Amino acid sequence: KVYPNQNVASVDVANRIATIIKEKQAKGETAVLGLATGATPVKVYKELVRQHKEEGLSFKNVVTFNLDEYFPMKPDADQSYVTFMKKNLFDHIDIPKENINIPDGTLAESEIAAFCEAYEQKISSLGGLDIQLLGIGRTGHIGFNEPGSAPNSGTRLVILDDLTRRDASRDFGGKENVPTKAITMGVGTIFKAKEIILMAWNEKKADIVKKAVEGEISSEIPATFLQLSDHVEFILDEDAASQL
Ligand code: GLP
Repeated sequence: KVYPNQNVASVDVANRIATIIKEKQAKGETAVLGLATGATPVKVYKELVRQHKEEGLSFKNVVTFNLDEYFPMKPDADQSYVTFMKKNLFDHIDIPKENINIPDGTLAESEIAAFCEAYEQKISSLGGLDIQLLGIGRTGHIGFNEPGSAPNSGTRLVILDDLTRRDASRDFGGKENVPTKAITMGVGTIFKAKEIILMAWNEKKADIVKKAVEGEISSEIPATFLQLSDHVEFILDEDAASQL
């Protein structure tokens, strides 16, 4: 779906999330949201905060799972995805703290495999993700599933691509300060979500969006795996869609 700009697109995505939350509320059930970081989803979160403040949208019945976190990463660091999520969403809504799940960047490497398994289990035990939001990195990564990721991969520790670290260098004051690893949900984890929404804005994403949508399916560009799913939508602005 191509929208004239990211503002209207983001409101549309936020409305879909709000609808899921309200439908679940009406049934006395929990809404399970898969959330993403980066600049791309910021306006979606802004609209959800607005609906909470102005329209009384409640997040009391919402459980969230974030896609990824840098490793190692302290939760209170400026660049952590914990800080990002607090700043852009969690600090402004009524979600219970214990309902928030973000991969733990403070673990010892020996603890990561068990943590990742428990993360997957927790998602499954709640009935799976009702919706998963995605951005796309210029390597074609979703979450931090870099080139080489398998279509059935699960939550795990990965090594970041050089281009991804260069793209993150502004936040860290230089590429040398960007962690070399991350914990990410796998392509297989993302695939199990009942609805997947990949958003991309601006000209700089046009090339990778074209490859993801029209290119040959390959682990070289993990986002191409989304072509295999029948419950994925690409939500684009005109600039990101300009090469399609
Ligand atoms: C990071 C995140 C991804 C995100 C990507 C794009 O690598 N791990 O989940 O999609 O950045 O970021 P942006 O939305 O800022 O372009």
